[in-house]
Amino acid sequence: MKTIAVIGAGTMGNGIAHVFAQHGFSVSLIDVSEEQLQKARNTIAKNLDRQVQKGSIDAAVKESTLQNIHTVTTIAAGVTNAELVVEAATENVGLKLEIFKQLDACAPAGCILATNTSSISITKIASATQRPGDVIGMHFMNPVPVMKLVEIINGYATKSEVTDTIVALSRQLGKVPCVVQDYPGFIANRILMPMLNEAIYSLYEGVASVAEIDTVMKLGMAHPMGPLQLADFIGLDVCLSILQVLHEGFGNPKYAPCPLLVNMVTAKKLGAKTGEGFYSYTAGNNELVVSDRFK
Ligand code: CAA
Repeated sequence: MKTIAVIGAGTMGNGIAHVFAQHGFSVSLIDVSEEQLQKARNTIAKNLDRQVQKGSIDAAVKESTLQNIHTVTTIAAGVTNAELVVEAATENVGLKLEIFKQLDACAPAGCILATNTSSISITKIASATQRPGDVIGMHFMNPVPVMKLVEIINGYATKSEVTDTIVALSRQLGKVPCVVQDYPGFIANRILMPMLNEAIYSLYEGVASVAEIDTVMKLGMAHPMGPLQLADFIGLDVCLSILQVLHEGFGNPKYAPCPLLVNMVTAKKLGAKTGEGFYSYTAGNNELVVSDRFK
């Protein structure tokens, strides 16, 4: 496999394009917005610079990686020669179904249609196509160039040869694949999100402060980030929407999102991307500062 298309140039899409291009694949990065594509290119260049500075790649690899990425604004133009498409658009069911309908119409026969969805059913996404056997979940973790895991999700109809190809491909990218089945939250978010929700409940109930909750989990469990910082990093809207998928999918009240999380999302305090969540993020300040609301 040599030619890949990535749909969506946001945080996950640019990370996925980066990793494939760094490993020698020709990547079409597709987004409706030219501005978003330019932003993605700049982010990839900045992250490659970071790798060059750390000595994990040399300057020639940075250049070849950037040359391997071609940006386009339509799906039809980007997938003509693709052997694999990885969809990493916004986490919205209607949008993903529409994209997969389009992919069914214009991706070449035999092309694997993967989605980076964090919680939407692969079986449902596959149902938008006439080729559900070729549809699979390929769930990367953020930041994609750093995190080793690829969670591979078999839809109800995914062909075993498609799974085998994606497992081998993930290894080729230097990642560790784990194959799971298509049930709400798969494995990563089924386990991660209740932990983040419980941390938010602990704050909501006044059991401990933001800093204490995060320090307990960082120092006590050797997590690189505390759960509240991680929730801010992922995006509180994303956390809420995944908890809702778990809650509805299993019909079990143990997944009910904490009312504080719901309030913060309603107030558009979504974490790092909006400048405020449990912490406050001001430009140029790398120090972790607890948001005024929680002091
Ligand atoms: N691109 C390339 N390299 C990057 C990078 C990026 N975007 N971000 C960080 N790095 C590199 C740094 O250069 C550094 O490299 P070395 O190890 O070679 O020195 C390394 O990653 C560590 O980075 P920093 O020193 O800047 O900072 P850190 O030690 O605090 O690590 C972190 C940052 C890797 C993000 C770490 O805090 C971490 O692992 N956090 C948890 C991340 C996590 O849990 N992600 C999963 C989220 S859930 C998800 O994605 C799925 C979902 O569906 C919601």
